[in-house]
Amino acid sequence: MRAAVYHEFNGPITVEDLPDPAVPDDGVVIEIRASGLCRSDLFAWHGHDPTMALPHVPGHELAGVVAETGPGVSRWSAGDRVTAPFCCGCGACEQCHAGNEQICDNYFQPGFTHWGSFARYCAIAHADVNVASLPEDLSFEHGSVLGCRMITAYRALIERARLSSGEWLAVHGCGGLGLCMVMVGSAVGARVVAVDIDGGALEMAAAAGAAATVTADPDNGRATVGAVRDITGGGAHVSVDALGNAEVAANSVRCLRKQGRHVQAGLLAARATELPVATIIAKELEVLGTKGMSARQYPELMHLIARTGMDLSLLVSRTMGLDDLPEAFDTMAGFGASGVAVVTEF
Ligand SMILES: NC(=O)c1ccc[n+]([C@@H]2O[C@H](COP(=O)([O-])OP(=O)(O)OC[C@H]3O[C@@H](n4cnc5c(N)ncnc54)[C@H](O)[C@@H]3O)[C@@H](O)[C@H]2O)c1
Ligand SMILES: [Zn+2]
Ligand SMILES: [Zn+2]
Repeated sequence: MRAAVYHEFNGPITVEDLPDPAVPDDGVVIEIRASGLCRSDLFAWHGHDPTMALPHVPGHELAGVVAETGPGVSRWSAGDRVTAPFCCGCGACEQCHAGNEQICDNYFQPGFTHWGSFARYCAIAHADVNVASLPEDLSFEHGSVLGCRMITAYRALIERARLSSGEWLAVHGCGGLGLCMVMVGSAVGARVVAVDIDGGALEMAAAAGAAATVTADPDNGRATVGAVRDITGGGAHVSVDALGNAEVAANSVRCLRKQGRHVQAGLLAARATELPVATIIAKELEVLGTKGMSARQYPELMHLIARTGMDLSLLVSRTMGLDDLPEAFDTMAGFGASGVAVVTEF
């Protein structure tokens, strides 16, 4: 199969002919039709993920068609239109039994622990647990975005932060994940303040439903916090770091009103990150981690998308071929483009 691969961290990304993946006994091989580029792919390429082995095929935001099924699979057949979350479970551990496959004790992640979806084919084990159906009226291009950033936004806001209608939500970083946060927040009736350094990202956030936008000045976090607190009448109920930056995380906490909830969605490479703990205590704030979402929750997310008429085309700024990936990685590293870039030609 044709696949994008790197042989060393931060090394060249090349398109090569690699062996097709073998189908796991209880898994499927998916013919990939679309795969989105996420900042977590950069995080992994930079060598920050200790679970990874080389050479590596990145890509974890996938949509496609089942090409082959193992003998132990009962829910899927060749030809089914599917997607899968990037955080897959074993189906047998305590976490999986509790419905939390996204934090499975034996988790695996296509594009991280295993070869991913910047390739013609990608294997997913324990497919009855980890694969989700794509509705006929959802394109592969839009379906791929669900596999990481939309599911993460849904779980972060609805399950973890318990965001409700009428509350103020501040979203720091309005790239792929942040735009999904804006969409989910608006869909459930929250008032969203979008924060970014990039005017293009803020325009996309406004189109996606943000009620207000704030241009962040990375050298003056106090001004960003002040602007969000003014707009929200004293602080947001929920605030999210959707970038992965220590200063942004701390500013997100500072943007909250009393008993507000900070959600840390952006990945941080440092082992320790300083947050204003005195403020967390004095204002009785909550600090919540969040990691993807399990396949079992897709139907409720699909329902929200359909019920509120969420327009996923607002997320995708560019489609491209596998050969364009090296340049797209560089563009993302330099914050050179807004929205989500999706590979649709393999
Ligand atoms: N927890 C999870 O399950 C999960 C899932 C998906 C992604 N992630 C992480 O979420 C983060 C975002 O991923 P993405 O693909 O949306 O990234 P992205 O590159 O598409 O978006 C980042 C955005 O942040 C903006 N930005 C840069 N500096 C800023 C600053 N100082 N203040 C405010 N905004 C700033 C950029 O302009 C850009 O719009 C990454 O850390 C990624 O690894 C985590
Ligand atoms: Zn991702
Ligand atoms: Zn498990």
